Amino acid sequence: MTPVLNRLAVATGRVVWFTGLSGAGKSTLAQALRDELAARGAAVELLDGDAVREHLSRGLGFTREDRDTNIRRIAFVAGLLARHGVTVLVSAISPYRETRREVLATLPNPSEVFVDAPLAVVAERDVKGLYRRALAGEIPHFTGISDPYEAPETPDLHLRTDQLSVEEGVRRLLVHLGYSA
Ligand code: ADX
Repeated sequence: MTPVLNRLAVATGRVVWFTGLSGAGKSTLAQALRDELAARGAAVELLDGDAVREHLSRGLGFTREDRDTNIRRIAFVAGLLARHGVTVLVSAISPYRETRREVLATLPNPSEVFVDAPLAVVAERDVKGLYRRALAGEIPHFTGISDPYEAPETPDLHLRTDQLSVEEGVRRLLVHLGYSA
């Protein structure tokens, strides 16, 4: 007897990739979306840049090479999870267009979400106090100050966090993912 009929097919998941400047609101939106999807019974996981750098990418810095390594590691794990039916939310600056394009092409059902607020706004918010230090020259290679951020040209979703509430951002994400808002 083959057990094959006992095996339920798991629907493929998807990867929602949040890109944007530090402090633009990627983690806030991704966490709020995660909570909303979990409340609706979805299998959902969040891979957040800060947490990944604490564990999976400890020791990596912010050169282009290290950032790309970080992004490729995140994408690798995201792909494993998504192929088991998980909705994976990735929140990482992921500043290089070509690297995002490369990794998103390897992922099932990818969405690129541009979490966008003007540099002046995120530097003024300065939630982690890093922009002040970067502007004082204390942090080399700081995205948006002394390192590039290549904005998506054709994101699947573009959220201006200086103009939208978190609730409205989540609502647009839900609609984009095909859920009722
Ligand atoms: S990424 O470029 O590799 O995608 P990631 O999202 O993992 O970056 O990490 C960004 C976080 O690291 C920022 O939110 C900030 O807290 C911290 N950080 C420390 N140094 C830098 C830097 N030079 N540039 C950007 N972020 C930095």
